[in-house]
Amino acid sequence: MSRIEDEVNRRRTFAIISHPDAGKTTLTEKLLLFGGAIQLAGAVKARGEARRARSDWMKVEQERGISVASSVMSYEYDGRAFNLLDTPGHEDFSEDTYRTLTAVDSAIMVIDAAKGIEEQTRKLFEVCRLRDVPIITFINKLDREGREPFELLDEIEQTLALDVTPASWPIGMGRSFLGCYDLFHERLALMAKGAKGGMPDMGESCEGLDDPKLDSMLPEDAVAKLREDVEMARVLCPEFDVESYRAGHMTPVFFGSAVNNFGVRELLEGVASLAPTPRPQPTADRDVEPTENKVSGFVFKIQANMDPKHRDRIAFVRLCSGHFKRGMKLAHPRSGKQINMHNPVIFLAQDRELAEEAFAGDILGVPNHGQLRIGDALTEGEALRFTGIPSFAPELLQKVRPIDPLRAKHLGRALQQIAEEGAARVFKPVMGSDWVVGVVGGLQFEVLADRIRTEFDVPVIFEPTTLYTARWVAAEDHLILKKFLDGNQSAMAEDHDGDPVFMARNAWHLDRAQEDFPKIQFHKTKEQAF
Ligand code: G4P
Repeated sequence: MSRIEDEVNRRRTFAIISHPDAGKTTLTEKLLLFGGAIQLAGAVKARGEARRARSDWMKVEQERGISVASSVMSYEYDGRAFNLLDTPGHEDFSEDTYRTLTAVDSAIMVIDAAKGIEEQTRKLFEVCRLRDVPIITFINKLDREGREPFELLDEIEQTLALDVTPASWPIGMGRSFLGCYDLFHERLALMAKGAKGGMPDMGESCEGLDDPKLDSMLPEDAVAKLREDVEMARVLCPEFDVESYRAGHMTPVFFGSAVNNFGVRELLEGVASLAPTPRPQPTADRDVEPTENKVSGFVFKIQANMDPKHRDRIAFVRLCSGHFKRGMKLAHPRSGKQINMHNPVIFLAQDRELAEEAFAGDILGVPNHGQLRIGDALTEGEALRFTGIPSFAPELLQKVRPIDPLRAKHLGRALQQIAEEGAARVFKPVMGSDWVVGVVGGLQFEVLADRIRTEFDVPVIFEPTTLYTARWVAAEDHLILKKFLDGNQSAMAEDHDGDPVFMARNAWHLDRAQEDFPKIQFHKTKEQAF
């Protein structure tokens, strides 16, 4: 096997999806724990420090208990290389959330045993389904009173229309929670009391559920219930089928308690042995195979101000093929220029390190001054255009102005940066002085207001507008375009690149413009227009 094949085969790039409070952060930390004790101390500490250092940036997160900035954590376990992408889990979607899920090959869905499938989990699941992303389920908080396992399995099956099969089975619940029986490996793992920080042991191998060992290790009623439940589960649930899982049709379900570090090893082993290796990526012309020799990747996220000392921005690039080496020059088909990859980084928890080499499935952070945009390809020459990276029409439009009118210029700069990051759409009406910001979820206005205040020191006010929607306009014939622009000045704006955008007051206004100017194209997203 070639080096590239070897490296691709040992990679698992995944995200955790959940509703706030289900235990995603706790589980992430425990998964990192398995990345090795030394790294653990570093990782968790780095995380704490990064939090403190970025306390302003994280203010919204702290106040609302939401995770606004998503990041990447890479770690090794048992010879495998894992890239865990954090998906922001607040009630409202940002485009980032969707795009992050385009950069993973599988996901873990965390469910609170007392709550079952919650709204946010369902929404994120729907995004995964669009690309048939395989899902492993982790039912968390078994140390608390929760709902019956059968009821939870049934709910997953019914609400998500997924085949469900248990990978482990819980023994008791809440105060009487004793541990789990691993159905994939016929192993009994008991939860040690007070073992919060420690590593759980491997569990005891059994010769199936009839093994008399179980009778000696568990109370009589617990063994009886376990045998009865599992027997029923085996009748009610289909057998695990790895192909069906990888096609996104079936989810294996693990039970555990993240805070007690229980069931996490089984889950991680599940990801290691079941989750798919990096998948081929579609482009406009062909699928790019992860084992191809030439390097390629696409930008799925831009983040600015990760390091307050540098005002550069980081483009998150998902590598799709080849053997990347630091110092390479990669082609940037959109601009036709070459980009020098002098100091790309990989992310270890919240820490960064220079990436000397990388393979398909890895996420590189590429520092740049704005040349790289979401959806851009980087290649060794081929003019690839990756597809399937969603972009959204701004559905909600609000005006924004600085509380102190003298800060208008600063606000302009802040909005320019936010627009380039892809965090929101920003429009400057041709007539009038307020900026208009377009987003896909209402909470984003609040998040943006907070960012603009803390990062750019410009307190702002968002205000409702009577605007209905925005369309990028284009035409083959620039005279026709000019005529349209001149005739509709009061409804025209420019986006952050200076490209023209038509701001419709209502559906009728838009229809009317389209009827009057049949040769003008009205695009819902900028990507379609250019
Ligand atoms: P999130 O990222 O999905 O929002 O959830 P997070 O991990 O922050 O967990 C939410 C709360 O649930 C935390 O409690 C956490 O300690 C708790 N939790 C996580 N896993 C388990 C579990 O297995 N059992 C129990 N009983 N609780 C769990 P908190 O009170 O909000 O925070 P903290 O003070 O404990 O940190």
